[in-house]
Amino acid sequence: MDDKFKAIILNQSGEKFSREIKKIDKSFFKTGDVLVKVHYSGLNYKDALILRNGAKLVKEYPHIPGVDFSGQVIESDNKDFKPKDDVIITGCRVGEIYPGGYSQIVKVKSELLIKTPKLISNKNAMILGTAGFTSLLCAFAIKAREELLLGEKVNEVLVTGATGGVGSIAVMILTKFGYNVTAVTGKKDKKDFLTELGAKKIIDRKELIKNMLNSLIKYEQITTTLPKAKVLKPQADKIITLGKKNSLQNTRMLVSKLQDMKSTNKVKKTLAKRYESRKGGYTRIIKAGFRYGDNAPMAVIELVDRDIEAKKVDKIKKENAKDKKRIKGRWFMWAKYT
Ligand SMILES: NC(=O)c1ccc[n+]([C@@H]2O[C@H](COP(=O)([O-])OP(=O)(O)OC[C@H]3O[C@@H](n4cnc5c(N)ncnc54)[C@H](OP(=O)(O)O)[C@@H]3O)[C@@H](O)[C@H]2O)c1
Repeated sequence: MDDKFKAIILNQSGEKFSREIKKIDKSFFKTGDVLVKVHYSGLNYKDALILRNGAKLVKEYPHIPGVDFSGQVIESDNKDFKPKDDVIITGCRVGEIYPGGYSQIVKVKSELLIKTPKLISNKNAMILGTAGFTSLLCAFAIKAREELLLGEKVNEVLVTGATGGVGSIAVMILTKFGYNVTAVTGKKDKKDFLTELGAKKIIDRKELIKNMLNSLIKYEQITTTLPKAKVLKPQADKIITLGKKNSLQNTRMLVSKLQDMKSTNKVKKTLAKRYESRKGGYTRIIKAGFRYGDNAPMAVIELVDRDIEAKKVDKIKKENAKDKKRIKGRWFMWAKYT
């Protein structure tokens, strides 16, 4: 085989960033034990970032981008991979610190490669791409939680960012797994698309934030993803600032934002009093590691000087209801036998 091949080459010297299709030879590859003829490579969000300016993800130039690819083995120094084997690679920092898929051939470390499963073609593997692979990981994580950890059937699953690369495939896969999928989206005109993918219910993104705000006011502490906590924080602070000023206009704004009278009253009475002498910053975010399954950064968002009892509010209500039932039962027995 000719040692020369074409690839997209990124380069950076000082402030100057360049990208061009170049003919290079195999000596370009400094690491790896399997040489692959690339058939397909996806276009991921990360690729777009890297193609633009390296996005601080690329450590060494010249560099070949492309965070995933599928293809066929040409040469191999590893006994597990033979010429003509179909292979896939996705993530593993390929296209960032290792040469990527925007090339006719690539040399890679065999431990990063997997053989293309018989049920899927190299083309379909890249149609799913890294986003599809991520959705599959999320879907399998739910299945694993259901079967291994919870031991009970999960019926309802919520997918946020539903029209995105990861979200849309997640809606499709989770529906195929038999879950009732509720899709959360910011795009009103994509309802038909999400229904076609299998979503049973579609919720506006604003609705989700409103529900989370109400939960934060009610329980005074909730756990969510770090990006959602960051969206929530300024909105929660604004709500409390509104509640501190007792005017009809502010009450109207609170009601329209929260659409919940209990939350509105709590903001106007309890929280307004609690934060009377505080000038702002009524909430805080505490980072809480990474979620099992998709590794999403998690956070606890809470009201400053929160009432610890607020988290037990539902439990207390349930116990009170039980007590009432018990008392009612006793009265009934008493009335029956007297
Ligand atoms: N793509 C990958 O290979 C990959 C791999 C690992 C992790 N991830 C992570 O998965 C997430 C989604 O990635 P993606 O590739 O699917 O991105 P994407 O195609 O850009 O989709 C993101 C979706 O998020 C929603 N969105 C946009 N702005 C928003 C906002 N301000 N607040 C809430 N939602 C908003 C939009 O959907 P709606 O309008 O329908 O809400 C958008 O389509 C990202 O956090 C990414 O880092 C992606």
